[in-house]
Amino acid sequence: MKLTVVGGGSTYTPELIDGFARLRDTLPLEELVLVDPAAERLELVGGLARRIFARQGHPGRIVTTSGLDAAVDGADAVLLQLRVGGQAAREQDETWPLECGCVGQETTGAGGLAKALRTVPVVLDIAERVRRTNPRAWIIDFTNPVGIVTRALLQAGHRAVGLCNVAIGFQRRFAGMLGVAPADVHLDHVGLNHLTWETGVRLGGPEGEDVLPKLLSDHGDTIAADLHLPRPLLDRLSVVPSYYLRYYYAHDEVVRELRTKPSRAAEVAAMERTLLQMYGDPSLDEKPELLARRGGAYYSEAAVDLAAALLTGSGSPYQVVNAYNHGTLSFLPDDAVIEVQAAVGPKGPSPLPVTQPDPLFAGLMANVTAYEHLALEAALHGGRNRVFRALLAHPLIGQYEYADTLTDRLIAHNREHLAWA
Ligand code: G6P
Ligand code: MN
Repeated sequence: MKLTVVGGGSTYTPELIDGFARLRDTLPLEELVLVDPAAERLELVGGLARRIFARQGHPGRIVTTSGLDAAVDGADAVLLQLRVGGQAAREQDETWPLECGCVGQETTGAGGLAKALRTVPVVLDIAERVRRTNPRAWIIDFTNPVGIVTRALLQAGHRAVGLCNVAIGFQRRFAGMLGVAPADVHLDHVGLNHLTWETGVRLGGPEGEDVLPKLLSDHGDTIAADLHLPRPLLDRLSVVPSYYLRYYYAHDEVVRELRTKPSRAAEVAAMERTLLQMYGDPSLDEKPELLARRGGAYYSEAAVDLAAALLTGSGSPYQVVNAYNHGTLSFLPDDAVIEVQAAVGPKGPSPLPVTQPDPLFAGLMANVTAYEHLALEAALHGGRNRVFRALLAHPLIGQYEYADTLTDRLIAHNREHLAWA
């Protein structure tokens, strides 16, 4: 089996390699190709990747290259984890929206739109090249904003599934609180990528007992502290929102905080410098502790599990993925991309039926779905007015004066990445 990672030079890659090494029985890889245009970085990451495989006795071959076409040739699955413009572009996304009093975040709000505009054309080009060499390959998309990028891929007819680690993070956290194995925790996870709520926490599977009320009463303070949201709010919602909901429920508070501290991009860039230095040490042959301070915890587990289900029919039978709605949430269009539990196998994901959510959550989902639709239009066809329409539709923006100013800023800061600007 051959698997290719586009953006393989990411400092996150050792996390993934560690997952492939530990879970090699679930997913027997013969060849793992790391492809990245940043040669120096790729060599550092590739070196450590080979040492991790060697230490754990994984027989697979790790290839590093900057040549995409050869890298994806014959691949059974291609994992996309790239970041157009790197942390420098992310830093911009996190900064200029603040000048209008709007949240500066890499996937939410105006910054997320900028990221979508930079990323969608690049991802579609890669996917096209994958399809040319191997039309049966699965594309697993980690590249943010995952909802919009997955919608772009599916709309272009690719065999794509979007993935995020938010759900697996909750699953592990709740399992620890409940004193059960993570595989025994089944989340009723509903929404769009980075806009989700856990509306139930079931033991054993989709039909299992819902222990969410008990989890909230026994561990509500800890969960609230994890999310930086007040405990009484959780009690009133009676569900667990993802930490991305804080950008909505505590928008102005977040803006005030962001204004007083360095951006997450700057923090991550500093961490990446240290990580790359560590990766260059030939005696290091495991993923370093420092990597746990990045947001992507457990993403390797989620990726291996998904690849195993898609390629071999093994892996967990139900997984939280990003896929077409196709009637799952009755108030959203069929071609919206939603993030829910799905049965996953070699034919791809099919979302499990869900209880239709409370209007308190459904309203925001519908609003952000409309934004994502318009964001994709802007990413595919360009033009100032399409950018403006997406920003005006976003629930965190909404006013024409802000949308106008943010449109100008977005274009000014991203000109080199936008073919039409
Ligand atoms: C979480 C999100 C990812 C995001 C990451 C950022 O894992 O689910 O989509 O990319 O956080 O983490 P970072 O360490 O780069 O801030
Ligand atoms: Mn994510």
